[in-house]
Amino acid sequence: MQATPLLGVPPDAIAAAARRVMMRCEELARVTATVGTVERVYLSPEHARVNRLAAEWMRELGMRAWQDAAGNQCGRIAPVNDLDPDATSAPALMLGSHLDTVLDAGRYDGIVGVLIALEVVRLVRVPTATGWAVPFPFAVEIMAFSDEEGTRFGKALLGSSAVAGQWNDAWWQLTDADGVSLRQAFLEFGLDPSRVGEAARRPDELVGYLEAHIEQGPELDRAGEPLAVVSSIASARRFHLLVEGEARHAGGTPYDMRRDALLGASEAALAVERICADEHHIVGTVGRFDAFPGAVNVIPGEVRFSLDLRGEFDGERDRVWDALARDFDEIMGRRGLRWSAREVHSAPAVFCAPLLQDVVRAGIDSTLPYRAEEPPVIFSRAGHDAMAIGSVTDVGMLFLRNPDGISHHPDEAVSAQDVAHGIRALAESVLRLAKEPR
Ligand code: GLV
Ligand code: MN
Ligand code: MN
Repeated sequence: MQATPLLGVPPDAIAAAARRVMMRCEELARVTATVGTVERVYLSPEHARVNRLAAEWMRELGMRAWQDAAGNQCGRIAPVNDLDPDATSAPALMLGSHLDTVLDAGRYDGIVGVLIALEVVRLVRVPTATGWAVPFPFAVEIMAFSDEEGTRFGKALLGSSAVAGQWNDAWWQLTDADGVSLRQAFLEFGLDPSRVGEAARRPDELVGYLEAHIEQGPELDRAGEPLAVVSSIASARRFHLLVEGEARHAGGTPYDMRRDALLGASEAALAVERICADEHHIVGTVGRFDAFPGAVNVIPGEVRFSLDLRGEFDGERDRVWDALARDFDEIMGRRGLRWSAREVHSAPAVFCAPLLQDVVRAGIDSTLPYRAEEPPVIFSRAGHDAMAIGSVTDVGMLFLRNPDGISHHPDEAVSAQDVAHGIRALAESVLRLAKEPR
């Protein structure tokens, strides 16, 4: 069954919008802390620069643009085309994603969702009496979230958590690799920590949140499909683990006297793979691993490593963490080591709202009229800002094909043609939502 398109714009307008998205992805990739790679972390000079660019692009569309109290770049356009675009207090549909990156990142994760949102606003505003392609009962806001990845402070979704009113004052003590606290970083960026609560939005101010994102996995590429409806987003927990043994002479210490923290931590990392791979839809990753004192002729006395654990359901994820902890007890006990874990991030699974799944599905259907079947529905193992925003309003997501499923890597890709499909599908979704009775 095929939905009739609501967006009356010629295909070359969509192609031009997609080209602009691709060019802007390149432009943003040049805003980096390390030349030759893409690296843009929370509260850095690069963060300030991309916010300024995004603000400029929002204003160019007639949006009011501001940076909120948590460093998110926001834009808003009211439902009526009056001279003061923010005169009304109408609730808003939020569109967006994030502009921060992992280290040595690709150019599209998060970024493409913000840029697609800008093109959607451009396309659904047309020169009619009201200024909109269909009468809009809500304002449209674009959110360029400031910290989805948690690259700098280990805790992900800081920007969107502030918007969701979920800020936790314990986070002020988090530190980056140089020992700079989150509080200090706020001050250095020009933000006032005591005002972070002002970034919070109330449920009655919002209609919902729609996010376009690359899949960050291979399912669409394997299925030969450009777009998918997202059903839910994985529940996640992140830990900093410490293994303590004894640093001793690498030559003089016989095996029966060694308490090698690196060997214990390595066994633990293998246990993560063994236990998670046996479970349905659970993935665990040790992404950071540091041995101390880090000398060739000293047995490692201490290892610090990270664990990122994700699952479709919170209960399964927690059961797997308990199983891992039992395994770590056994490994460390056998090797005469101590271990401890500090949880730095926890996010429950978030389910996309049925209505928003329906409008995204209809948006895809009207975009790809050759489809014989329903668009694919995918559960996201990657985390997204929609997870945090889900605690304040309904969320929906649209995935774009990510060739070879490679992401968090410089080879991350998306085609201009799929971006064009994504723009059209998201615009159609927004127009459909505008026509929903409320
Ligand atoms: C963010 O990309 C995450 O899923 O870690
Ligand atoms: Mn992302
Ligand atoms: Mn990411």
